[in-house]
Amino acid sequence: MKNRIQNLTLTLISMSLLSVSLSAIETTPVEYKYDNEVGKTLYKKCSACHGDKGQNKALGKSDVIGLISEKELYISLKGYKEGKINKHNMGPLMKGQLITTTDNEMKTLATYISKLQK
Ligand code: HEC
Repeated sequence: MKNRIQNLTLTLISMSLLSVSLSAIETTPVEYKYDNEVGKTLYKKCSACHGDKGQNKALGKSDVIGLISEKELYISLKGYKEGKINKHNMGPLMKGQLITTTDNEMKTLATYISKLQK
């Protein structure tokens, strides 16, 4: 009987250790590192409307994104992707631009765009 309890205890301990290590895997974010070349590639399709230095009012509507701070750019991109921003009545168009863009790619874009006019 004592042995069975010991075995059960050991099983429970190893099960909880396993779940701790599994949840550690799930919650550890992929390490993010800014890469200017990735930014350049991602920005290519944006430059058609916003200009290669972010200097244009896209379709005569948007603000000049080259003048927006990195933090504001990220918040803005995230908002468009989630369909929460429609500042100049063209939010859905911007949502379409970002539909397949990941969070790390939006971070990269925000950093890249914020450096364009410097
Ligand atoms: C087809 C033209 C077009 C393309 C391509 C495009 N945009 Fe836009 N963008 C717009 C328009 C129009 C708006 C204004 C949206 C609105 O009504 O809020 C806008 C808004 C923005 C804003 C917010 C500016 C403001 O007024 O606050 C940011 C930031 C932005 N775009 C970044 C990007 C990025 C990054 C890409 C590439 C992934 C991109 N855009 C691609 C047309 C475009």
